Amino acid sequence: ELKGETTVVVLGASGDLAKKKTFPALFGLFEQGHLPDDLHIIGYARTKMSDDEFHERQVGHIKPPSDDASEETKSAHKKALDKFKSVSSYIAGPYDKDEGFQALTEELEKLEKERGGKPNRVFYMALPPSVFTVVAEGLKKNCYAKEGINRIIIEKPFGKDTDSCAEMMTALKSQWTEEETFRIDHYLGKEMVKNVLLLRFGNVWLESSSNKNFISNVQITFKEPFGTEGRGGYFDEFGIIRDVCQNHLLQTLSVLTMERPVSFSAEDIRDEKVKVLRCISPIAREDTLLGQYVGAEGKPGYLEDDTVPKGSVCPTFAALALHINNPRWEGVPFIMKAGKALNEAKVEIRVQYKDVTPGIFEDVARNELVIRIQPSEAIYMKFNTKTPGLITRAIPTELDLTYKQRFSEAKIPEAYEALILDAFKGDHSNFVRDDELDVAWKIFTPILHWIDGKQGEAPKPESYPYGSRGPEGIDAFTSKYGFKRSNEGYAWPKTPMT
Ligand code: BG6
Repeated sequence: ELKGETTVVVLGASGDLAKKKTFPALFGLFEQGHLPDDLHIIGYARTKMSDDEFHERQVGHIKPPSDDASEETKSAHKKALDKFKSVSSYIAGPYDKDEGFQALTEELEKLEKERGGKPNRVFYMALPPSVFTVVAEGLKKNCYAKEGINRIIIEKPFGKDTDSCAEMMTALKSQWTEEETFRIDHYLGKEMVKNVLLLRFGNVWLESSSNKNFISNVQITFKEPFGTEGRGGYFDEFGIIRDVCQNHLLQTLSVLTMERPVSFSAEDIRDEKVKVLRCISPIAREDTLLGQYVGAEGKPGYLEDDTVPKGSVCPTFAALALHINNPRWEGVPFIMKAGKALNEAKVEIRVQYKDVTPGIFEDVARNELVIRIQPSEAIYMKFNTKTPGLITRAIPTELDLTYKQRFSEAKIPEAYEALILDAFKGDHSNFVRDDELDVAWKIFTPILHWIDGKQGEAPKPESYPYGSRGPEGIDAFTSKYGFKRSNEGYAWPKTPMT
């Protein structure tokens, strides 16, 4: 754990990731008293700014207390904000020249001298991938603390396929050790993803039914109700599969399917994740359904985004089926669905059990275990019960654990808060190891090359209207892998809380 004098350097401090995620998360931890007492934050980027201008940007996305919060809460928040700004400063400099990093080191040394003790330095790279390597090298060469602890935090995109990722990892690893490196996949910081191991291995009934004997199919669904909206330039280079499937959804899948780790230590957990990922065959072309949204009801289509190249066939929706070749999961399809500009915001895992043996019932709904990752965290099991009254008929209902009801007082941390705190503690459990990345890319690289048009003509995605459930073929696709819609007579009870 980092004790004593710690400076966090946020590289790319004027960018979107820093503004929207890194600084709000640092502030959340700071306000709750989770960060070292002597913390200092330095923002570093190319844009020239005064400290005041920097502070304005730095706190621009921090949520203020709600209007009905007490005066006490509001004034405590303001005090914390002022203190947060007072421990934060800014330096402008280039990413590819020693001078910039030398100026940064001077500033670091000045602060450290004022505070005394052994300095720890945490470098948070909120940067575009084109400068990852050069910055990592510049930092190591010029800014590495000789006595204290050094850590570097970095986030996707880690390359675009198996080879480019390996190349980037090799370059980074020549400078920073695995122990010093924290690769973020922010889905691993989400409360419900972190809960999966607890749920699976802390409940005998769940663990004993989590296998091919009981489960028909699993869906991991990511839905966003907005399109690329000005972010099309970035997005078009990557597409939905690289944006969320290869990382966020695959990480979710690996914790959902791994064997029980020997302990909760980072290496034991990651060993098991790598093992199950290695059992997944590369995704086949026939196991994919690709989509791209078109304008509807006043909302612009993907190709109408000015930042998107004309005629792009980049998928903004993908449904993929993955197969795990091990004795636990043999024959159970794992369907990933991810899309932008859909009808709702929702991320969930849906485990559908097999049919009850027919005979005594005519048509009984399948059990489904749903882990709702967001919004409104919940775990519920769809199960059948007798219709209350003088008839003997099954009715689908649910065992429901909705967090806002059951844990109404609990504050669920933001993913980045949880992860940054883990990085401060030196706990790698929820960070991605280099070999995990490699196997993850091997599963996706063949279809990505096909979609990129590297193996002949690129496939044309099916159109779907902005705000719809996705391409028309989506229901046929999921049913091909055994998913049965058994929603008749069933509706999720809408309470004011959800
Ligand atoms: C990011 C993707 O990694 O994850 C975005 O680049 C996506 O396109 C985001 O919107 C989703 O994260 P969250 O936490 O909002 O579900």
